[in-house]
Amino acid sequence: MKNGHIWKDTDGNAIQAHGGCIIEHNGKYYWYGENKGADNCPGTSRVDVIGVSCYSSDDLVNWKYEGLALKADKDDPKSPIHPSKVAERPKVIYNEKNNNFVMWLHLDDASYTFGGVGTAVSESPAGPFRLIAARQPNRQDSRDMTIFKDTDGTAYLLHSKDWNKTMNIARLNEDYTDVDGMYVSVMQDQEREAPAVCMHDGMYYMVTSGCTGWSPNSALYAESKYIMGKWKLIDNPCEGKNSRRTFNGQSTYIFEVNGKKYLMLDHWVREDLKTSGYSILPIEFRDGIMTIPWQDEWNGAK
Ligand code: GAL
Repeated sequence: MKNGHIWKDTDGNAIQAHGGCIIEHNGKYYWYGENKGADNCPGTSRVDVIGVSCYSSDDLVNWKYEGLALKADKDDPKSPIHPSKVAERPKVIYNEKNNNFVMWLHLDDASYTFGGVGTAVSESPAGPFRLIAARQPNRQDSRDMTIFKDTDGTAYLLHSKDWNKTMNIARLNEDYTDVDGMYVSVMQDQEREAPAVCMHDGMYYMVTSGCTGWSPNSALYAESKYIMGKWKLIDNPCEGKNSRRTFNGQSTYIFEVNGKKYLMLDHWVREDLKTSGYSILPIEFRDGIMTIPWQDEWNGAK
């Protein structure tokens, strides 16, 4: 699969899973993401909400379309997932205690003024997920976001707040269905978004982008010894062709296979969002320094 390009599923259709994440469950991989499989609304850089796609794979290369895990609610114009709204960056985690799957995603109105998150639950990985809440976490605005599940099973919502000026790290309750009130604001006024998080050798790492909408900019990574500790911005981890513009992409998620971490990128095509491409790049840690070298192809976790 050529990095930077749109990829095909096992039926030969374009994979519609933008701003997504990949999780593993019972030996299978699941890729969730925004289904943008329609034309942009005329004169805009948005596509009506269709829903969150789910794809499954045994090898991270051949992806079978499992359908819409969370569907837009076409009937109720007031629904937070009505097609006229915005539903982005879905992230799914498995909850051991309840044996269910919990999805978090950025929910907004078309002008991005609501700034909230949605929470949805499902008993099976492919859905259907039921939306149980749409709100501002800890009464703060929330736009680009991710979910990170720590080794002790505690999960966190990381979200840009104060109109993307600052990043919040908010702990979730045991059901992963709400924030539990404990949060920290980090990288204050650094204007970072598109957070993607992992833990390596006892250190937490967060890759983010700058705030330039659909246009690429330089990635930066930050590190911290504690997830809710003081995060320190380090540098651009990208290496190779177009490394100063995140290879013309934007971070969305870090997943792990056999201890190795991989960064997922979106290559947004603002004028025709459904054609936006993907990359998956292996992350290297050289003496604790995070490095993401460009690779022309993604051929699975080797
Ligand atoms: C980007 C963000 C995307 C989308 C876009 C809309 O900054 O990362 O997820 O929200 O803005 O312009």
